[in-house]
Amino acid sequence: MPSASSLKVLVVGSGGREHVLVKSALASPLVREVIAAPGNGGMEMDCRCAPVSVEDVPGMVALAQKEGVNFVVVGPEVPLSLGLVDALEKVGISAYGPLAAGARLEASKIFTKRLLLKHRIPTALAAEFDQLQPALDYLQTSAMPIVIKADGLAAGKGVVVAMDLAEAEAAVRSMLGEKVFGASGSQVLIEECLMGEETSIHLVVSGRDYVVLPTSQDHKRVGEGDTGPNTGGMGAYSPAELVDDALMARIDREICRPSVDAIAAEGIDFRGTLYIGIMVTRDGPKVLEFNTRFGDPETQVLLPRLETDPVALMHAAATRRLGEIQLKVKPGYATCVVLASRGYPGSYPKGEVVTLPSSYGPEEFLFHAGTKRDEVGRVLTHGGRVFGATALGSTLAEATRRAYAVADRVQFASSYLRRDIGAKQLRRDSAH
Ligand SMILES: Nc1ncnc2c1ncn2[C@@H]1O[C@H](COP(=O)(O)OP(=O)(O)O)[C@@H](O)[C@H]1O
Ligand SMILES: [Mg+2]
Repeated sequence: MPSASSLKVLVVGSGGREHVLVKSALASPLVREVIAAPGNGGMEMDCRCAPVSVEDVPGMVALAQKEGVNFVVVGPEVPLSLGLVDALEKVGISAYGPLAAGARLEASKIFTKRLLLKHRIPTALAAEFDQLQPALDYLQTSAMPIVIKADGLAAGKGVVVAMDLAEAEAAVRSMLGEKVFGASGSQVLIEECLMGEETSIHLVVSGRDYVVLPTSQDHKRVGEGDTGPNTGGMGAYSPAELVDDALMARIDREICRPSVDAIAAEGIDFRGTLYIGIMVTRDGPKVLEFNTRFGDPETQVLLPRLETDPVALMHAAATRRLGEIQLKVKPGYATCVVLASRGYPGSYPKGEVVTLPSSYGPEEFLFHAGTKRDEVGRVLTHGGRVFGATALGSTLAEATRRAYAVADRVQFASSYLRRDIGAKQLRRDSAH
């Protein structure tokens, strides 16, 4: 354990996820000071923010050195895959998040698919293509629906679940022919379409040690009743009852343990978050994908539920002492409702003045995502997802009611939110 107040922490990123990380670091007894880069309007109210882009690896390392930072927490996937953690460790600064070799598990779906198949971890069967014609030929003999995936990072837009041959061909043509994702789509996976309920599990990993974080459920579609286009996420709650103890034990046995072992066996020194997307099929749980950082909005419900200091957890993982950590989770529930700008995930207005609540209850939080502050300190909208209104409660109904109460006290002209976050599970609960 680092001694009390010995850490100066730099949080890298500018979304809701990073605002939670800043607030967790400020609350940690291990932490002396917190800075962030590039930050957002809310992070600026909580700590100093430096205008360094997440893609500027040398700039971020220079910032950490100049500031005397001794622990960096990296939020998004892009700096991880660009080798930010490698560069920090080279100058002796510990960081939470995988080295570039580990970040490949998210940055290349083909790399991960090969690893999963080689180690016999349950996943959809898939074929790899880098040429258009062979891919089109393969589709001719394939059953529909079928899934087309760009290999590389595509900001959540690189996967098409094609219902028929025409849609599948169009997806393959746009990726391998028109190169709409550039190099990220110059190779594709064509994979079997799995049927079932989707869930995800967050692990904090350090070599062969790992800790399973509470379950959570996100809401990807922009519209109520899970309609409309996919987004970064419109809300989340935790725990998710879909994953009961028996299913969790099976996921742990068939997916988590074998995945962590396979990653280590491949010589990857993985220290960071492994966020596993899973389809629970009739034949059991199967891996859809790995992400190598915390989900957003999931982090906004996961971290507030931890009794264990999130900084102690992440620092232990980064410094190979995760075995010392006994994770403690608060009883009860958390719900996060995302306030977006109307039009998101398409185009939306920016620069609208926001009225914030004047006070918060002890179990209520307003995390900023796409916000900035103007010269006179007013908060302006600056992104598609603007805030995450999160609350804890002893029941899901209570947490959800409180989260909406926070959300309804935030005002800006184009504010949009889904009114049905948590509704499916609440309906299931009341049916019992
Ligand atoms: N093999 C599959 N079968 C059915 N649906 C899939 C499959 N792979 C992906 N999906 C769907 O597409 C979504 C996005 O795919 P995913 O692999 O998670 O990539 P990304 O999050 O990078 O876009 C998943 O959340 C899931 O709904
Ligand atoms: Mg995904």
